[in-house]
Amino acid sequence: MNNAIGVFDSGVGGLTVAREIMRQLPNETIYYFGDVKNCPYGDKKKDEIIINTEKAIKYLINQGVKMIILACNTATAAALEYLQEKYDLPIIGVVQPGARRAIQATENNKVLVLGTKFTTTSEVYDIEIQNINSDIVVYDKACPSFVPFIESEGYLNKEEADDIIKETLNDTIDLGMDTVVLGCTHYPMLKKNIEEFYGNQIKVISSGREAAREVSTVLGYSKLHQSKVNKTEHKFFISAKSENFDNIASKWLKQNIKSEIVEV
Ligand code: DGL
Repeated sequence: MNNAIGVFDSGVGGLTVAREIMRQLPNETIYYFGDVKNCPYGDKKKDEIIINTEKAIKYLINQGVKMIILACNTATAAALEYLQEKYDLPIIGVVQPGARRAIQATENNKVLVLGTKFTTTSEVYDIEIQNINSDIVVYDKACPSFVPFIESEGYLNKEEADDIIKETLNDTIDLGMDTVVLGCTHYPMLKKNIEEFYGNQIKVISSGREAAREVSTVLGYSKLHQSKVNKTEHKFFISAKSENFDNIASKWLKQNIKSEIVEV
């Protein structure tokens, strides 16, 4: 089926998932939606996150996508179940794949989840992980400064990135975990710095990479894989003018991206 895959995030974070999908499924076309107007989602209430996410999802459905990936942990935590019940097409999130990968990776049964305020207080990873293996201890750490820092391209300055990481993660050093989950799709843009902060001794997992693998499974199961190499252009929609979106997208995806501003 030659329709596009819809990828949604509040901003640029979902590009880390889009890049993985492009790498793992090169025949597929992606329609990306970044709700930059309402970013960050992580400090918002559940109802507001659901309303904003649904508007974007409806837009992607109207563009004819064959499946949707909520490439946003916060939207997954708040809205995935609601959307799956309401809409007929396959909709997947990023939390379950990330949780499964963390279970595989940990050897000492101690996992730290880094995420937005909403994701960490909802304890969505704790629930997913402990449903499968209740011996695993899950710690949650909210990192509210990371998303605005990444959206403003702050991560390009290594020194500033290292400082913000040190300030935020200092009290996690002695927790004893052997695995850290990047429970926000923005954070892979800081992955190297985070690995370095922990002395390159800890496995740092990005939930987005695992989610891209799941996209392939769902497409296979639903017989929705693109049948031949006749894909159309990827498209990028954003909900407001943004200084940085095209810059970050072009650098991250290594191609010239021109997004289209749409009203939802
Ligand atoms: N990238 C998102 C996530 O995975 C959203 C961050 C935000 O908008 O606060 O949680």
